[in-house]
Amino acid sequence: MTKRSIAPQRGFFPQPVYLIGCFKEDGRPNFTLKTWITCASTKPPIIMFTAGDAHQGTKKTAKRVLETGVFSASLATISMIELADYCGITSGYQTDKCADTGMAWSRGAVLDVPVLDDSPWVYECAVVKTLDIGNGTVYFGEIKNILVDDGIPDATRGKVDVSSLSPAIYAPMKYFSLGPQVYAVGDSLLLSLR
Ligand SMILES: Cc1cc2nc3c(=O)[nH]c(=O)nc-3n(C[C@H](O)[C@H](O)[C@H](O)COP(=O)(O)O)c2cc1C
Repeated sequence: MTKRSIAPQRGFFPQPVYLIGCFKEDGRPNFTLKTWITCASTKPPIIMFTAGDAHQGTKKTAKRVLETGVFSASLATISMIELADYCGITSGYQTDKCADTGMAWSRGAVLDVPVLDDSPWVYECAVVKTLDIGNGTVYFGEIKNILVDDGIPDATRGKVDVSSLSPAIYAPMKYFSLGPQVYAVGDSLLLSLR
């Protein structure tokens, strides 16, 4: 395969789609779309997300997660895509996203965070560290609880039928659905031993 060089840019893909939840100063919930989110540690279990341009003070979530020390991360499914997109293009400073959309939310089971009722998989996290890097800030959140849809028969790691959850996938500037499973970790070893 011949390749060509292109200028360095932030067009990294694919990315997961999560809605980060926190409470505003007046107690109303706020959700924002973050696709720069992944794992950071297994013991203890820690996930991380990045707030771009956090120091410009334009992102309500960046400010409130720091102040409250907690956040939720609700997996966005295909049926939630309109809501997710709205939360990614509107500011918690300027509008009440929950009132605008009528999104159903509840309180976390363990932490004082808002969680989205329509999401089948939600992390409740406590901030353990932040890291300023470039023009972004990375938030590391220790997972204190995971709220999973009762309809998921086996929520054990590796046993979840992720396709059935219909998670949204992001790649600039579009949303996609997850295709079918094509392989499993370790299958390559089984084949090479044949
Ligand atoms: C598809 C998509 C992905 C996004 N991912 C991120 C992200 O990972 N980090 C970030 O800081 N902002 C991200 N944003 C932008 C924020 O969601 C946006 O600035 C939002 O208005 C902030 O809302 P808030 O003020 O309620 O925090 C994304 C926006 C879209 C549309």
